[in-house]
Amino acid sequence: MTRMTVNGEAIRYRLDPDTPLLFALRDASNLTGTKHGCFSGDCGTCTIIVDGRARLSCEISIADAEGSEIVTIEGLSAGRAHPLQQAWAAEQVSQCGRCDPGFIMALAALMRSTPSPTPEQLSALPNLCRCGATPRILKAVGRASRLAAPLAPTPSKPVENPSSRFSNGSSTMSQIVPDDS
Ligand code: FES
Ligand code: FES
Repeated sequence: MTRMTVNGEAIRYRLDPDTPLLFALRDASNLTGTKHGCFSGDCGTCTIIVDGRARLSCEISIADAEGSEIVTIEGLSAGRAHPLQQAWAAEQVSQCGRCDPGFIMALAALMRSTPSPTPEQLSALPNLCRCGATPRILKAVGRASRLAAPLAPTPSKPVENPSSRFSNGSSTMSQIVPDDS
């Protein structure tokens, strides 16, 4: 049995310890906001936050996540109130929407420490958007930075003309404790 906290809820998985966390979240916990993309660590679509850091859930087994605090797009905020989710909606970022949760989670983790990410920091993210929504994504990052500014501990240089890629989040506060003990 593998224990962890997912979106504030204690979870115990009775699955093979090698099960990718992505599959446990989606198939056992029904947290389908986290998307399946390349399954090779190349697209960022499956990004979640593990112990405060952005991680690719396709590359982590549930054994690796034992005892961790997991946040998925469903648990990022109540009512999609996170500045990034507000900005995504305001800038109408979504095209197909597949990359949105991964981008938002990667950016949410980054912007905790760096409310106004530099172009270099944005370019370093592994996230890809195949729909060409990058310009809107970048506008959303700038908007989210401004929304978050009053809360920012150490504002840094604003996003001006970054060359990166991003996208929105689904929100169905999920649950499911796939454990019958
Ligand atoms: S599905 Fe995990 S990086 Fe692409
Ligand atoms: S992959 Fe379709 S909106 Fe980014």
